[in-house]
Amino acid sequence: MLKYFDLQRYTALHREQLQQAVNRVVDSGWYLLGNEVKAFEKAYSQYIGTTHCVACGNGLDALSLIFKAYIEKGLLRPGDEILVPANTYIASIISITSNGLLPVLVEPHADTFQIDAQQMPKHIGKRTKALLVVHLYGKCAFTDELLSICEEHQLLMIEDNAQAHGCQWKGRRTGSVGHAAAHSFYPGKNLGALGDAGGVTTDDEELANIVRALGNYGSSKKYVFDYVGQNSRMDEMQAAVLCEKLKWLDQDNELRVAIATKYVDGIQNTAITLPTKDYLANNVFHIFPVLCAKRELLQRELHQRSIETIIHYPIPPHKQKCYSEWNTLALPITERIHREELSLPLNPTMTNEEVEMVISQVSDIRL
Ligand SMILES: Cc1ncc(COP(=O)(O)O)c(C=O)c1O
Repeated sequence: MLKYFDLQRYTALHREQLQQAVNRVVDSGWYLLGNEVKAFEKAYSQYIGTTHCVACGNGLDALSLIFKAYIEKGLLRPGDEILVPANTYIASIISITSNGLLPVLVEPHADTFQIDAQQMPKHIGKRTKALLVVHLYGKCAFTDELLSICEEHQLLMIEDNAQAHGCQWKGRRTGSVGHAAAHSFYPGKNLGALGDAGGVTTDDEELANIVRALGNYGSSKKYVFDYVGQNSRMDEMQAAVLCEKLKWLDQDNELRVAIATKYVDGIQNTAITLPTKDYLANNVFHIFPVLCAKRELLQRELHQRSIETIIHYPIPPHKQKCYSEWNTLALPITERIHREELSLPLNPTMTNEEVEMVISQVSDIRL
């Protein structure tokens, strides 16, 4: 079976360096708030192109800490509305509602899966204070129109860069364009730790300081608490691992794009909608999405042909039980994506033979 992403295989490729990084921490006797985290924060902020990076426990915390910090800073108040793409992963939405803010779900483009800027103005009212822009599947969500709408309405722009580490837009990396950005280093991400980890990047020093304090019980000085914070810290082991893995990120992303290009050029099946050639630009292909009206059948057929696939995601946030107040909303583009999307295996461990196998098997299936 070709696994969707064989993390054991990936880790084995870099076993020696990762082992050395882990051993260094084991031997150091220092496991939290130490030099490894400092080194990662420096390396990652340089890589992304921001003056600050604050490491934290995971991607959901990174998002949530940003909203909390803006509330502490007085730029957001409970009840304020936050524009967000309706087809995002649930964490984006949770980070808004858990801070007493109101998500306003905006439909995506059917062909890019990213928030449709043209749909934004009709949702903007007096209480709309921010956009949470999600670079979903690894594809940059920015357009000139999106940025000018944010500017015109003086919206804070927060990036959910959980799936797009290393992605570029007009010579800048995603995660450095908005006012602040959240990153997840969940193991299967393009830059993944060996456990949970996350980070916030920003050029706003005050915001970075508040985020850092909030993630450390609300304290910037030992036993002095300025905010009611939480415990969300990246541990030294994950920071050491991420410092190593950051060195391979660009090369891994190039491999991802090369495989995506082969899929777009090579797969021929009229029952499947492939991403267009335009979709290849500004994309680090965390996920390679195809649409198929008979998605479950396609997934079963591929499984029988020893290819593992994943659905991102089967149920949209507004149809989830936990958000029952939105269950009757009609968001047809979002709903179609959730009904038809299937992600083919695409990751830097794949051999040419495996890539060719996926192309020929997907092309061969008759639905
Ligand atoms: C778009 C998006 N945002 C946020 C998150 C949350 O990250 P984490 O799992 O590290 O909490 C994820 C993780 O899957 C994600 O895909």
